[in-house]
Amino acid sequence: QINEAEVVLFSVPSYACQRRTTLDNHNVTLTDALSLLAENAELSDEDGRGVAFRRAAAVLKALPAPVTAMSQLTGLPCLGDHSLRVIKDILENEASDEVESTKQSDRFKALKVLTGIFGVGSKTADRWIRDGIHNLHQLQESGATLNRAQQAGLEHYDDLNQQVTKAEADAITEIVQEAVVSVLPGAQVVLTGGFRRGKQTGHDVDFLITHPEEGREVGLMPKVVFWLESQGFLLYQKTTRNSYLEVKDGPGRPSSNMDRFERCLSIFKLAKKEERGIKLTNPPAHRRWRAVRVDLVVSPISQFAFALLGWTGSKLFERELRRWAGHEKAMSLSSHALYDNKQSRYLRAASEEEIFAHLGLEYIPPSERNA
Ligand code: CTP
Ligand code: MN
Ligand code: MN
Ligand code: MN
Repeated sequence: QINEAEVVLFSVPSYACQRRTTLDNHNVTLTDALSLLAENAELSDEDGRGVAFRRAAAVLKALPAPVTAMSQLTGLPCLGDHSLRVIKDILENEASDEVESTKQSDRFKALKVLTGIFGVGSKTADRWIRDGIHNLHQLQESGATLNRAQQAGLEHYDDLNQQVTKAEADAITEIVQEAVVSVLPGAQVVLTGGFRRGKQTGHDVDFLITHPEEGREVGLMPKVVFWLESQGFLLYQKTTRNSYLEVKDGPGRPSSNMDRFERCLSIFKLAKKEERGIKLTNPPAHRRWRAVRVDLVVSPISQFAFALLGWTGSKLFERELRRWAGHEKAMSLSSHALYDNKQSRYLRAASEEEIFAHLGLEYIPPSERNA
């Protein structure tokens, strides 16, 4: 029995971008449960429900201590009836029936397995499930047509579903740095995504590339990709060219949340640690490399701060920044620019700190953007 006076009451602001969310999560059981329901909703094309569960999980991630009683949650934002019911079930019974039955359901399991293939989204997976395909074996037997990304995804399925370690991310950083400075001296490479937020593992490794002189970065990606390919570092790559024009297609009239930088979605062939730098005379019994997903993005220096902020994540933190900008400040934020709708002009920024300042937000460093 907890004494009423000893119950810790929590208070958090309602936008995730107003909060400091470290990796030190005191409510893992609860946030795992809500994240699973979010994932299930997203895989079922119910994005609204997905975001609601993600926001609820993010509020719990920001709490300074474990939740032990429902009464502690009074007044907290983003906790809807559904999320509160799940939390209550777990606090009272150690588990939520809804979460457990979702986890066990054939449909959820099939969606997870199929979308675990690089290049397969929820729509494709859903179509396959309706055709009776529930696992990789059935997919291979079905004769379904796979695009190039999906073929590579299937081929490297086990590797790509194994978490990337920080050590592997560091090894890839060295390779990308060598590639970039070889083709354009003075160009800069920054690790973004989860690893920049301090995560020790990730599903891929994300990089942002720029050059301190505006314009020098034009045409950089194909050169980097050619260098990597000729050195045998790429198992797969698909490069998309820059399609951003500030005047015609700026954030004043955003067509989607997708950014338009020159980007390369790739699969690296990374030598295993014990093999790196070693030349063997006999072929070893085990495979000497593994496949790792790597994302490369090139940004002009004038947009670098926005690109860095946009590619550091977390995804929910980004979504909340854009929602804050739009709803609270009448501004449009993208990975390219910040547009002030009241002043009808773009607000320049040379650093992430300046962007937070434009938005009237306290600066949150990457390690505290783990919402
Ligand atoms: N991103 C983006 N456009 C995409 C894909 C990703 O702007 N088409 C951004 C996301 O918003 C996120 C960042 O790139 O801020 C990294 O995305 P991702 O690699 O998917 O997530 P991580 O946070 O790095 O998590 P993980 O460790 O699973 O890779
Ligand atoms: Mn703590
Ligand atoms: Mn990532
Ligand atoms: Mn990524």
